Amino acid sequence: MVSIRAAEPADVVAITDLYNALLETTTYEWTEVLHTIDERRAWLRAKVAAGHPVLVAVDAGTVIGTATYGDFRDSTRWPGYRFTVEHTVHVARSHWGSGVGRALVERLVDVARVDTKRVMVAAVDGSNDGSIGFHEQLGFRVVGRLPGVGEKWGRPLDLVLLQREL
Ligand SMILES: CC(C)(COP(=O)(O)OP(=O)(O)OC[C@H]1O[C@@H](n2cnc3c(N)ncnc32)[C@H](O)[C@@H]1OP(=O)(O)O)[C@@H](O)C(=O)NCCC(=O)NCCS
Repeated sequence: MVSIRAAEPADVVAITDLYNALLETTTYEWTEVLHTIDERRAWLRAKVAAGHPVLVAVDAGTVIGTATYGDFRDSTRWPGYRFTVEHTVHVARSHWGSGVGRALVERLVDVARVDTKRVMVAAVDGSNDGSIGFHEQLGFRVVGRLPGVGEKWGRPLDLVLLQREL
């Protein structure tokens, strides 16, 4: 039985592992540098301070997924973006295909609606067909493809933008 709850400082090691899981073997994360526990700890503190949700999915006491959202572009500098958020979601491979990703994103959507957000955006590596298919199943639609805006291992990367009206 998987439950969803707000992340706590004690979850940071598991969250770091989830963010690093595919970093060295795929272009899904646009960095070649592994996340560290200290960096994720500071990140979690900043997220909480900003009032942004960080959720974890827990199975038998083990964190097996995480999801969060934040500004889509800088809504302090450009307040016109304040009703739009960009999210990310990571599920442990051992639990793929069992509804955990959906549960995390739907809970994020609930939080975003209460937070008066209107649009949720996923910005996905163009080769990540799994994430694109997953988001389409959750009611997101592809609204754009930005060719070559990223790079990893010397290869240009496309960014696919999907959005869901809340
Ligand atoms: C993408 C990811 C979050 C999906 O999580 P998940 O727990 O496996 O997804 P779920 O089991 O909740 O699936 C929800 C729906 O999406 C569909 N889906 C899941 N993975 C899919 C895939 N690879 N291709 C197409 N559809 C997929 C499922 O069929 C399901 O549809 P249904 O409920 O109508 O049957 C997970 O594979 C993952 O963490 N991938 C690596 C990290 C990543 O790419 N994150 C996204 C960065 S934006």
